[in-house]
Amino acid sequence: MKEKILEALKNSEDFISGEELSRRLGISRAAIWKHIKTIKDQGYKIESISKKGYKLEYSPDLLTYGEVRKYLETEEMGRNFLHYDSIDSTNVLAKKLAQEGAVHGTVILAEEQTSGRGRLGRAWVSPKSTGIWMTVILRPNISPFMASKLTLIGAAAVERAMEEVGIEAYIKWPNDIVLNSKKVCGILTEMSGEMDRVNYIVMGIGINVNTNSFPEEINSIATSLKLETGREVDRKLLVAGILNNFENLYNKFIIENNFNQVIDICRNKSVLLGKDVRLINGENIRKAKAIDIDDDGELIVEYEDGVLGKVLSGEISVRGLYGYV
Ligand code: BTN
Repeated sequence: MKEKILEALKNSEDFISGEELSRRLGISRAAIWKHIKTIKDQGYKIESISKKGYKLEYSPDLLTYGEVRKYLETEEMGRNFLHYDSIDSTNVLAKKLAQEGAVHGTVILAEEQTSGRGRLGRAWVSPKSTGIWMTVILRPNISPFMASKLTLIGAAAVERAMEEVGIEAYIKWPNDIVLNSKKVCGILTEMSGEMDRVNYIVMGIGINVNTNSFPEEINSIATSLKLETGREVDRKLLVAGILNNFENLYNKFIIENNFNQVIDICRNKSVLLGKDVRLINGENIRKAKAIDIDDDGELIVEYEDGVLGKVLSGEISVRGLYGYV
């Protein structure tokens, strides 16, 4: 009901009376007034004048479904959309909800995460309303060994969405998005399945959008879209853009078994290809040159002895010889 009232206020240029709202929505004027109060508490500024009614003056920068919906062109992605002011981790909640049967395409998005999780058990700093911290629940009918391809689809969708808001970003295979050699986005894909069947996959996407500064420890490798472009970026457009692009690329892959566009994006926008890298597998570090990304999305490298090898995503970390890329 709150969403419907907000929608009515957004669609009205002028004041709209409590009576009119109550007639349209079939609830009492007292109930309208209560909802208006909750909407105001969320940060919306609503002018109210007796006899005239209510007028929306200002909408806060929030990533609710009501704010994102008008840019969404999807059928499934984000159509079940859960927005939280603050939670521990959207991936953790997504796994719980997936276990309980949440539908394919469900999005869990939080303005802030108190225990955001990164790859390899690392923490992911997720301060309030400056970034995009969201997880998509997926139920693909694929075998588990294909699951790593979904991360590449996610990375390609993020790259496209950034391009659509005028930002040229690069992909650090397989799950980071990079701007000026620093990381702006990481993807954490987690799977529940059996030997031959995926039960569900949760894909967590974290983007530093309007972050102004980073803790000392990660300052040299992490950045935000705002720090690199010098302007605030509209988070709503980015969230919708990611989901729109993701649904397109995902359906091509799942329905048509067509992965070409994803590979093209990952190759053309790769920050690694042609570079000397370190392949890190726990204690084991090996130097190589990144040569190509093959049609299955695996990284082809040439080791120092000239031997070619394939690197599967999720197996190891790839770093530049002298730093992050
Ligand atoms: C990485 O690069 O290490 C992956 C980072 C993934 C962070 C996102 S933010 C939304 C989702 N919820 C989490 O707890 N982590 C992912």
